[in-house]
Amino acid sequence: MLAAYAAATNADDPLAVLEISGRPDPDPPEGWTTVEVRAASLNHHDLWSLRGVGLPDDRLPMILGCDAAGVDADGNEVIVHSVIATDDWRGDETLDPKRTLLSELHQGALAERVAVPRRNLVPKPDALSFEQAACLPTAWLTAYRMLFTKAGVQPGDTVLIQGASGGVASAAIVLARHAGLRVWVTSRDEAKREKALALGAHAAFESGARLPERVDAVMETVGEATWKHSLRSLRPGGTIVVSGSTSGQAPSAELQRVFFLQLNIVGSTMGTREELAQLARLCETTGIRPEIDRVLPLAEARDGFAALAAGDVFGKIVFTP
Ligand SMILES: NC(=O)c1ccc[n+]([C@@H]2O[C@H](COP(=O)([O-])OP(=O)(O)OC[C@H]3O[C@@H](n4cnc5c(N)ncnc54)[C@H](OP(=O)(O)O)[C@@H]3O)[C@@H](O)[C@H]2O)c1
Repeated sequence: MLAAYAAATNADDPLAVLEISGRPDPDPPEGWTTVEVRAASLNHHDLWSLRGVGLPDDRLPMILGCDAAGVDADGNEVIVHSVIATDDWRGDETLDPKRTLLSELHQGALAERVAVPRRNLVPKPDALSFEQAACLPTAWLTAYRMLFTKAGVQPGDTVLIQGASGGVASAAIVLARHAGLRVWVTSRDEAKREKALALGAHAAFESGARLPERVDAVMETVGEATWKHSLRSLRPGGTIVVSGSTSGQAPSAELQRVFFLQLNIVGSTMGTREELAQLARLCETTGIRPEIDRVLPLAEARDGFAALAAGDVFGKIVFTP
């Protein structure tokens, strides 16, 4: 079957080790099933994998991709929950210390077929296309959990979303707007700020700009480049939810500011199967849909990877096998 995979890893030149060619069909173990992939979406995670982050050499070659929507062996339209917990784990899968995402230990979703545990399948609402549904399992689920499980915000609160154009960030804009929050965003790029406003942000600022007032919560995925601004933008007692560190992971912790202003710094990773099911229902009932930057045939996946690596994206890139 056709697949996009890491043949090796390369910290400096991830695209050099990306291969798009034939790989063996999945051979699902007991309790797993095979999904015919109709659409799969790209995440920054896939670039990290090509760089060797979380992907040691002994797991290569590894088919990339955390996110898929498709048809299961019984003909049901499904969304794949990417968090693979160990067999005997019960409860919140993201808290299993041995959990992995598709493409970390088990072959990933950028392929014609993917094997997953049966319990990881979530019904796809008819109202969502396969392309839209394929955007939900990583970026959208992460944004959903950050906002609604971790941030402790209420309708009417103000939330700042750093790096507006990212997959997680653009999802957070749409979700936060529909939840009745006042949505402020930052982006380095004027055109991306305009798009963020069109997507539902109430105000868009240059990265690092002083805000008119302090916010109740910050959604942080950019990391080092925006961390100082996140800390300075937060009201006393406010919450930063952090789920990514694209630009670096060692900013000054500014401990004095953290304790003096009693700031909450909360980590967040992916979401549970139940949260994914709730997110799908939310999209169905509200009519909100993932912002898709472009849809490409899987055979042309290299163009999508290059665009993501260059930051030349707003929303999600989707591949169809
Ligand atoms: N913990 C989890 O479960 C989880 C899940 C999903 C993603 N993540 C992580 O979260 C991060 C974002 O993921 P994504 O898929 O949304 O990535 P993405 O689509 O590539 O977005 C990256 C964003 O970061 C901003 N950015 C990058 N470098 C920057 C810099 N030097 N200064 C300021 N802004 C910068 C860009 O914003 P502008 O160009 O608009 O300024 C861009 O919107 C990644 O590190 C990813 O690994 C974690």
